[in-house]
Amino acid sequence: MQPAQQEPVTQDIDALLAESLAAITATEDEAALRDLEVKLLGKKGAVTELLKGMKHVAPADRPAFGARLTEARAAVEGAIATRRATLEEARVAALCEDPSFDATLPAPRPNATRNGALHPLTRVTDHIEEVFRAMGFMLLDYPEIDTEFNNFDALNIPAAHPARDMQDTFWLAQRPGETGPRRLLRTHTSTGQVRTMRAFAPPFRAIFPGRVFRYESTDASHEHTFHQVEGLMVARHTSVANLVYSMKTLLSEIFEREVTVRLRPGFFPFVEPGFELDIRCQVCGGDGCSVCKHSGWVELLPCGLVHPNVLRHGGLDPAEWQGWAFGLGLSRLVMMKYQIEDIRHLLGGDLRFNTQFRRG
Ligand code: DAH
Repeated sequence: MQPAQQEPVTQDIDALLAESLAAITATEDEAALRDLEVKLLGKKGAVTELLKGMKHVAPADRPAFGARLTEARAAVEGAIATRRATLEEARVAALCEDPSFDATLPAPRPNATRNGALHPLTRVTDHIEEVFRAMGFMLLDYPEIDTEFNNFDALNIPAAHPARDMQDTFWLAQRPGETGPRRLLRTHTSTGQVRTMRAFAPPFRAIFPGRVFRYESTDASHEHTFHQVEGLMVARHTSVANLVYSMKTLLSEIFEREVTVRLRPGFFPFVEPGFELDIRCQVCGGDGCSVCKHSGWVELLPCGLVHPNVLRHGGLDPAEWQGWAFGLGLSRLVMMKYQIEDIRHLLGGDLRFNTQFRRG
């Protein structure tokens, strides 16, 4: 063959084709055929090189050269496919001849230690979804990238609120010339509240689990990426009693035993009144330990009655509709349930951690 700088001619294609077809027929097993395929058709393969040489062909000859090359490439591909089928057939035939081969035996099982497992976050989320579906809640999913409005304004969080600070929120850079609302990685699943009110006619009940992001330095109890489950119920009449009952049902299901809860006042701009719902420490039973910081209680579930301004942003008249909402810290719940001492294990990707949750 001529060096690439010189003008390649169709005879080069014919020569390569003849050579390739002979080599393909001569291969004796599927691995050798795969190697040859790469040598001929791969990124640096002989056929590809000829194609690159096209720029040296006189413009008048290019159409003919190109057409011949396309034809040759198809012929090479066809020959490889035919040879592959022949080799495979021969391999299977040889296997069938082998007296020790029994096609009725089950296929070898993959090594049991390499079986997959559901992540504890996935498991607990599945469980929560099951409990809420049984109570008539819809399961909704909202984007991780959202607008400043859905994350803050809609939730009655004013512009000067420190949560909007660079310290807490990952803002997306505006591209030059980009207009429209500022976007961010949602800092909580509460972004779904007004979205849900605008999308569904009340009364409704919904949960929306998901990943949330905060611009935080990490330690045993803080991660920049963690998980929450938001819940929202809107009806003509709702009550704190109804909220507490739903939360208690959920937590008792998750911990597989009756849990004791208590309410403390808590401030969140999007609820009024707002609460922190604590549960009796599941590790020490309330006697005091390092997990509950010796208080006997663990803060798990901020919640409250939906603020009238949030209902208004959702297009609902607060004189007509009421609601309650909660934002369950899923990561923390998982840590409590499985007694995981460091939040960084959850998304650390260390198989020594993940494989501990394989089903028995
Ligand atoms: N979005 C709040 C947070 O991430 C948690 C929260 C508090 C959600 C009260 C709620 C709620 O729905 O009612 O800190």
